[in-house]
Amino acid sequence: MRGHPSATNLLDQLRSCDSECESLTERLVGGETGFFRCPAAFDSLAKVVILELQARKAAENPHNLRVWSAGCATGEEPYSIAMSVCDAVNCSAGAWKVHIVGSDIRRHALQAAERGLYPQSALRHISRELVQTYFAKVGQHLLVKPRLRNLVTFTPMNLVAPTYIGRFDCIFCMDVLPHFSTAQRIALVQRLHLYLEPGGYLFLGDGEKIPAMDVTFHYHKNADYVLYQKPLAAAAKAGR
Ligand SMILES: C[S@@+](CC[C@H](N)C(=O)[O-])C[C@H]1O[C@@H](n2cnc3c(N)ncnc32)[C@H](O)[C@@H]1O
Repeated sequence: MRGHPSATNLLDQLRSCDSECESLTERLVGGETGFFRCPAAFDSLAKVVILELQARKAAENPHNLRVWSAGCATGEEPYSIAMSVCDAVNCSAGAWKVHIVGSDIRRHALQAAERGLYPQSALRHISRELVQTYFAKVGQHLLVKPRLRNLVTFTPMNLVAPTYIGRFDCIFCMDVLPHFSTAQRIALVQRLHLYLEPGGYLFLGDGEKIPAMDVTFHYHKNADYVLYQKPLAAAAKAGR
């Protein structure tokens, strides 16, 4: 990696070579994932954020909820978000219009996410009720049911040079920042701030912090988990 500020930067250059780089990408930037991997984040989503958004969106009909899982790996994170949201609000009753976008740099990971087929062991720590509600048994595997699958779309994206895909009420960017150099982390968090709706929430991995930088987030603590919220008033003043 001599001469390259980070693995992501090196990959950017390699990616322009040819498709052989695809498998290198898979090996270099892959990482641990799982359903409800950071329980405190999902607890905060269900018990704090959804309730607050519900109150704020009371006048909207239906209530639109857009969530981005940036660096979603093989889909466990966006499907966990979908389960949390569906459990907190009744997605099928029509009062809520929920759209979750999962993006990742690794195409193979995204293909697995799109399939939504997981070994039973991946869901062993999840309540039987959740599994029965949202998954169908296919041999030794569990397949995400359409009611959950239909809430999530997947798109390839390199977070170092992302395409604008709209504004979000919540952005999950968990365990992704450590892949980046300090300069890339600052640039990414600035963009995530921009892509959040006023009052929107940024979810980082357990113990991760935003770098010192010139954008304002409010901090909320739910137990030991820190939630970052884009200010409502400041965003309105700045006209975004
Ligand atoms: C450790 S995994 C975390 C997955 C998930 N967010 C979670 O917490 O369970 C990190 C993910 O970030 C993705 N990633 C790394 N660099 C990336 C980049 N430049 N653009 C988009 N995704 C990236 C990797 O492909 C991997 O899927």
